[in-house]
Amino acid sequence: MATELANNIRQVADMLKEAERVCCMTGAGVSAESGVATFRGHGGLWEGRRPEEVASPEAFHADPEDVWRFYFWRRKKLAECKPNPGHYALARLEGMIPSFTLVTQNVDDLHRVAGSERIIELHGNVWINRCTGGHPSDEPPCPDTRVTPDDVLDEIPHCPKCGAMMRPGVVWFGEMLPSDEFAAAVTAARDCQVMLVAGTSAVVHPAASIATWAADTGAAIVEINPEAPPLSSAADYCLTGPSGEILPAIVEAMSAASA
Ligand code: OAD
Repeated sequence: MATELANNIRQVADMLKEAERVCCMTGAGVSAESGVATFRGHGGLWEGRRPEEVASPEAFHADPEDVWRFYFWRRKKLAECKPNPGHYALARLEGMIPSFTLVTQNVDDLHRVAGSERIIELHGNVWINRCTGGHPSDEPPCPDTRVTPDDVLDEIPHCPKCGAMMRPGVVWFGEMLPSDEFAAAVTAARDCQVMLVAGTSAVVHPAASIATWAADTGAAIVEINPEAPPLSSAADYCLTGPSGEILPAIVEAMSAASA
């Protein structure tokens, strides 16, 4: 590892050891080393197609079977993926810092599988089915259903409570982020002393603004990305490299310093 990168990792580790409140925002890049396709760029999920064709309420309304086919395919692909050392390092960080909040744009569930517990999922979770049936405003909506790779993954699911067709529990283009999750993410970002931003192109708002809000309230921004980091002008540290290597190196440096 280059000396400058190693020095920066040590400085970030020292800063994290002192910090009481840390927030980490992750994107698809954190799961790249698990074999999960990112969204943009070569080989990305959106390459060669408009996301709205398979990830929008309009597409679902027009052709639910086509949209479900895309999500059945994604579930089957994800079922073969396991967390990588970056996911495990973040799960360890949660246990090393008094208040650690993980905010993810990922829907793949790999943070939870790796052992992270305090996770804010801004874009939902691909393993959730959500009822699309209308319900009177004085009644609570039908509960979500969680499926696993062992469940049938190629039949359109129907709500066990009301029988209506279900949809994947993810946020689509043109939809609002879940309000409770978004509010919790904003609070964590505004309140943190260090903000880690790992594996995101930081182009989708409002999720992408979260790091900027942390910077506005004085948090140190640390970017982890093998490409020219998207927020580099706002970042105090740019750790250039794959998160599956950089995040474990940070945790190791923190552990070494306390030994
Ligand atoms: P993107 O595909 O836009 O960006 C992935 C980022 O990860 C890029 O900056 C890559 O350089 C970086 N990257 C690639 N390999 C990496 C590695 N091994 N370690 C660390 N970083 C790596 O994915 P997101 O930023 O997550 O939204 O995209 C945000 C949102 O756009 C997604 O949640 C999705 C998408 O449209 C919805 O579906 C609503």
